[in-house]
Amino acid sequence: MTVGRRVLLRPPEAGDSAAFLRMVRRSRRLHRPWVYPPGDARSFRRYVARARSDPRGCGFLACLLSDGTIVGAVNLSEIVRGNFRSAYLGYYGSADHEGSGLMTEAVRLALRHAFEVLRLHRVEANIQPQNRRSIALARRCGFKKEGLSPRYLKIGGRWRDHQRWALLAESWRRRPFRAGR
Ligand SMILES: CC(C)(COP(=O)(O)OP(=O)(O)OC[C@H]1O[C@@H](n2cnc3c(N)ncnc32)[C@H](O)[C@@H]1OP(=O)(O)O)[C@@H](O)C(=O)NCCC(=O)NCCS
Repeated sequence: MTVGRRVLLRPPEAGDSAAFLRMVRRSRRLHRPWVYPPGDARSFRRYVARARSDPRGCGFLACLLSDGTIVGAVNLSEIVRGNFRSAYLGYYGSADHEGSGLMTEAVRLALRHAFEVLRLHRVEANIQPQNRRSIALARRCGFKKEGLSPRYLKIGGRWRDHQRWALLAESWRRRPFRAGR
């Protein structure tokens, strides 16, 4: 568990299913066409199982410290060690808490985990060029745009262009996120 000022990150559990699916249902318009989170009980169970067992991934729910409400999810995937020490970052928030800074805090907590616990060297976020809010969030967290890859990822059944945004451990060390800051 990683604790911030307003938000904590914790792995998803089977008992989160109803609240998580409700959040996803209420956020459909915000999420599409950028992300397609688990939308039914079966895919949520798979997400929980993967979060527990996949050595190459870390799945977190972002929850309010005050009352535990699920405000989003942040996932690290394809964690590679050795000379690469890299991972991909994905995230989505709840429409009920849009524009509140909570997802910026949640992503910074996941980055703290990536750089300070997993000791990765690089975290990459792949973002569709029209996804203004996600680009703003990545920028706020210190990511730098490295390039554009045409037809890079299949999202919602279509190959879509993505910008590749990355944050390196060196930049993180210059501007780490501390709870309470
Ligand atoms: C990407 C996404 C998570 C960003 O959500 P968000 O609500 O913009 O993010 P935050 O909760 O961090 O809120 C940021 C806003 O709060 C404001 N804010 C208020 N207090 C803040 C604080 N303490 N810290 C940071 N920002 C704060 C920011 O200025 C910003 O305002 P703005 O929208 O007017 O610029 C959301 O749009 C989403 O879920 N999109 C669909 C999924 C998606 O695209 N995922 C990424 C795929 S690459």
